Amino acid sequence: MKGKLYGIGVGPGDPELLTLKAKRILDGAEIIAVPVKAAGEESTALEIIRPVIDIREKRCMEVVFQMHPQEEERRRCRREACEQLVGELSQGKTIAMITLGDVSVYSTYMYVNQYVAQAGYETEIIPGIPSFCSGAAAAQLPLMEGKESLAIIPSARDTKNLAIALDQFENLVIMKAGNSMEKLMDMFLERQIPPESATVISCVGMPGEYIGPIDTQREYSYFTTIIIKKNREKKG
Ligand SMILES: C[S@@+](CC[C@H](N)C(=O)[O-])C[C@H]1O[C@@H](n2cnc3c(N)ncnc32)[C@H](O)[C@@H]1O
Repeated sequence: MKGKLYGIGVGPGDPELLTLKAKRILDGAEIIAVPVKAAGEESTALEIIRPVIDIREKRCMEVVFQMHPQEEERRRCRREACEQLVGELSQGKTIAMITLGDVSVYSTYMYVNQYVAQAGYETEIIPGIPSFCSGAAAAQLPLMEGKESLAIIPSARDTKNLAIALDQFENLVIMKAGNSMEKLMDMFLERQIPPESATVISCVGMPGEYIGPIDTQREYSYFTTIIIKKNREKKG
């Protein structure tokens, strides 16, 4: 019998935000696949499920997705990781691959899902709470209201893209924003956007959580997202 692969979103930090469905599937899976960028690296997604899933009876299988600067090398590594999973599925194993936040938001899992499905195996995706939704809840902010739109930007590195979004959207979510605070402040100044429009959501549901205004003196971790609401002041 062929195995099945589940892609599981585990939410952004607080283990209580794991869905009942994610927990049920994780409890039943023989293998928990843990994506990492390098062998032996600690996995935040695994730390999130550890308090609520008994992993002692399970095989936790590290799956390496190297962030190599060369695209060809990244592709080779992804293929190898997928082959590793297919090898287990061909032996009838049920695998749950965990992902931080939601599976459909900037996650390698979608590539894996496509590869495994094309190889003839059953796959299923269990959504998780995305970091920016959890952050909006922690900050008690609406992401968008009425007829407003929301732009989700992968990082502040691509200035041109960010400038277009800042000019055209009422609301923005900027991912991987930890080291872009000064750049953002400059871009706000150029456009007369008050700095209070931005809320930093850092390590939501994790140790060291910070929810508050941009503080350029502060160091932020990789788990930092910014929510910008240009109409916030107007609505009061
Ligand atoms: C590769 S993306 C993964 C996004 C994830 N799949 C999601 O649904 O949010 C990594 C980025 O997600 C955001 N992120 C993930 N966890 C977070 C947390 N606990 N607090 C704030 N931002 C977080 C940060 O912007 C981080 O740089």
